[in-house]
Amino acid sequence: MTVDSPAIPSPEALANVYVWEWPVRVCHWLIAGSIWVLSITGIYIGNPMLVSSGPAGGNFLMGTAKLIHFYAAIVFTLSVLSRVLWMLVGNKYAAWDKFIPVRAIRRKGLGPTLGYYLFTLRRPPGFVGHNPLAGLTYSLVFACYGVMMATGLGMYAASAHVDSPMRLFTFFVPLVGGLQTAHWLHHIVMWLLWMFIVHHIYSAILMSQVEANGTVESIFSGHKFVPREDLVYSGYRFIDRHTHRGG
Ligand code: HEM
Ligand code: HEM
Repeated sequence: MTVDSPAIPSPEALANVYVWEWPVRVCHWLIAGSIWVLSITGIYIGNPMLVSSGPAGGNFLMGTAKLIHFYAAIVFTLSVLSRVLWMLVGNKYAAWDKFIPVRAIRRKGLGPTLGYYLFTLRRPPGFVGHNPLAGLTYSLVFACYGVMMATGLGMYAASAHVDSPMRLFTFFVPLVGGLQTAHWLHHIVMWLLWMFIVHHIYSAILMSQVEANGTVESIFSGHKFVPREDLVYSGYRFIDRHTHRGG
């Protein structure tokens, strides 16, 4: 039995496009790396399963976990803010309108992209950067980053020294429903982010395999190898692709 899969385009049919500029790639990996560190130290802060004997100051386990958490939080916060700034000054693939589908072409692409993920379309719509569904998902991910920053800074401010400039961020505490709710939100949203991450790594590898356009490699090198027709149609290719439905 043979598996009927879409043909892989010949090298001549592909164009080499510089999609992700270096700030996008550096921010992606700093955010991804800091989320790992923040999650491991955060899970320990929320549930200190390692207990040391003697005075706490002797081992300073919780203190060390918090210190690492706060340094990673600085990397995370500055990288997220830099990436948001780059949505305004970066190239067209990095722009904010690739996240929030304000243009009709992106909104029209949402259904067929979902159809592709649900196996009703054989080939994905031809968007060069983020497809519209991925872009919309990433905007929810950035909203989650915002919740982590607001609740984290609020909790930090509440226990900061009275003279600390970090006290400025106490205004976040009532905005996020008080300290107890801030802890709860900070914890729950971490698990929401991990639900995204599992799916994200799976679909990045899937898209890379199916489209054979170097998607995974692009977040390291910046370059994608896209069918030339995608550049011509700039996203409209999915209209033709309805003919590939079923089978
Ligand atoms: C903690 C882990 C991760 C998080 C939170 C994360 C988050 C994100 C976000 C928010 C974007 C949009 C980037 C932007 O426009 O600035 C993105 C893009 C991307 N990520 Fe990740 N990522 C993670 C790990 C990974 C890993 C391990 C891979 C490699 C397998 C990967 C591959 C990609 C690719 C290929 C893109 C571009 C996809 C596209 O063309 O739409 N990511 N990621
Ligand atoms: C995606 C990023 C982050 C993750 C996954 C994360 C994870 C966690 C977790 C699981 C906890 C324990 C919550 C609990 O059960 O009470 C925690 C606590 C905390 N996090 Fe984060 N965090 C992140 C970002 C941040 C940021 C940006 C800040 C900003 C300063 C921050 C500051 C704090 C503070 C102050 C606490 C409470 C420590 C305490 O109880 O004294 N976190 N974090």
